[in-house]
Order: sequence, then C-alpha cells, then structure tokens
Amino acid sequence: MLAGSEAVTEEQFAESMTERLAVIEERLLDRAAGQTDLVTESAQHIINAGGKRFRPLLVLAASHFGGAVDEEDLIRAALVVELTHVASLYHDDVMDDADIRRGAPSANRQWDNSIAILVGDFLFARASTTVAELGVDYVLLQAETFARLVQGQIAETVGPQGGADPLDHYLQVVADKTGSLIATSALFGGMVSGATPEVLETLRAYGEEIGIVFQLSDDIIDITSDVTGKTPGTDLREGVPTLPTLLALRSTDPADARLLELIRSDLADDGALAETITRLRQHRAIDDARAVVAERAERARRMLDPLPEGPAKDALAALCDQVVTRST
Ligand code: IPE
Ligand code: IPE
Ligand code: MG
Ligand code: MG
Repeated sequence: MLAGSEAVTEEQFAESMTERLAVIEERLLDRAAGQTDLVTESAQHIINAGGKRFRPLLVLAASHFGGAVDEEDLIRAALVVELTHVASLYHDDVMDDADIRRGAPSANRQWDNSIAILVGDFLFARASTTVAELGVDYVLLQAETFARLVQGQIAETVGPQGGADPLDHYLQVVADKTGSLIATSALFGGMVSGATPEVLETLRAYGEEIGIVFQLSDDIIDITSDVTGKTPGTDLREGVPTLPTLLALRSTDPADARLLELIRSDLADDGALAETITRLRQHRAIDDARAVVAERAERARRMLDPLPEGPAKDALAALCDQVVTRST
C-alpha cells in the first residue's frame, strides 16, 4: 500500500514507478504465454521489442490522486491497458501492412497476417482475463474503450462519409483510436486509488487530451523522423490523411502543386514516397501541425490545475512537454 500523492516524496515516487514498471514487464510476458511455443513466441514478440509503456505509466502516475492502492490491482490495471494496446498494434500492423514495429519485424512480416490477427485476439483475451480480476466497473469501461478504439480504426479505414469535413473526421478518429485508451489509462489509475468523482473526471479529460496530442505528434513523426522503430511515411503510403497532409492540402500556392499531386497519388512506388516525404518535411504544414500539438499540450496541462501539487502531478505535466518535444 502506498498513500496518496501528498504523502509521497519525489524519490519515493520515482522509486515506486521503477519498481512497478519492472513488475509490469515480467507480468506482461507471463500473460502472453500460451499453449504452444508459436503462440508464446509470437505473442511475446512485440512486448519484448520494447515500447514506451506510456499507458502503464499513466495508470501508475494517476494512482496517486486517491487514497491507498492495492498493489496487485494497480499492476492489473496497468497490464490491461498495455495488453489492449499491444493487441491493437498487432491488428494495426496488418491494416497498415507495416514492416517494422518497435524496431523489430512486425508480426505480420515475421509470421503472416493470420498469425498477427489471431495473436492480437489472444492478447486481447488475456487483457479480458486480467480486467475481470478487477471487477465489473473495469470490465465495462475496458469494453467500451475497446469498442471506441476499434470504431476509430474503422472510421480511419473508410474515411469521411457524406461530405464530412476531413479535418473534423481526422480529429474524431484520433480521439477514438488513441484518446480513448489513454483516457481510460488515467481513469483506471484514479479508480484503483479510490479517487473522488471530480478527480476521476479530471484524470479522464486530461488523458483524452494528452492521448489526442500523442497521436497528433506520432502522425508528425511518421513524416519527419527516421528513428521511430517504424517505417517513415507509412500513413502516406497507406493513403491515411493526417494533420500535416490535411494542412498541406489546403494550400493554393502554385509552388505546392507537385506536393499536392503526390499526396493525392498512389504512393506504392518507393521513389514517389521518398519525394513526398522530402517535400513535406520542408513544408510549413509541419510547423503548423507542431503549433497545434503545442497548443493542445498546453490545454492538457491546464486540465491538471485542480489536482493537488506533488510528484505525480509533475509527472503528468512533464508528459505535456514530452509529447511536444517528441515531434520537434
Ligand atoms: C503507437 O503507440 C500507436 C499510437 C497510438 C501512436 P505508442 O507510440 O504508445 O507505441 P509504443 O507502445 O511506444 O510502441
Ligand atoms: C494506431 O495508429 C492506433 C492504434 C493502434 C489504435 P497508427 O497506425 O498511426 O499507429 P502506428 O504509427 O502504426 O504506431
Ligand atoms: Mg499503424
Ligand atoms: Mg494505423
């Protein structure tokens, strides 16, 4: 049992984070063990490849805003969100026909699409077992969250319908596919610690906003970075519109004609994709997208105002800086 944030020093906070994250690593691999070597190996593959563990971190930090926590329940809550996330990555890599994930060959490449889909289902089942151990409130929330995430992925796949504004559509997709699970991560942490309804709502709203910023940032670095552990330009190649491309497409400057033609074209060809990335990296749309990220990160930070001061609040505020610097 660890008391609420007001009783925890910075050292205690950092130490408990490190210890708990180590337990989470071990348990994630346990939960990914199956009946055969193939299941275990393919399910542990992406977990072993690393990842930022952003969602478990959020569960842990958010658990400092109520009272004492049950250590096992806290670890379970963190496992549920990471297992759900990893399951969605296996499926996402099939959808995006990805080659690499977390710097390792994606499961669809290492094995095939069928294995990747089924292993995603298997990990989702293990998330369900884990969330059942927490109780019905958690089960309900996780189920609704996953339904929202999947519908975000579906909406991205089908694109804006019936004349919907592409930017509005995109922002809704981002909130649904990514904001949903990150909001639930913060909420789970609050719930495990028995936080008040007001604090829970603050954590949820902050989680949703930081989750949106996180995906906006990820979409910028899909274009600008060569060191993400994923193939740059995956969204472009798959024809998935993101904030930088949507902003670039608004340009009426004749100098942008070639870029706009490329964005609208089939970018299956490596040369065409490379040219698009080069042109986009030099385009002001990237800075405009970064400005949106910075503004929304500030909005997320202000949402923390009602929370008590302390190392946990500092950690949540630091994430607002990290999501910005990530894509600059
Ligand atoms: C990748 O999530 C998918 C997005 C929502 C952008 P992360 O960026 O959290 O991936 P890992 O877990 O660190 O690999
Ligand atoms: C993935 O979005 C979101 C989910 C897995 C729900 P992306 O397709 O943008 O994520 P990456 O870039 O492959 O990690
Ligand atoms: Mg993807
Ligand atoms: Mg995707």
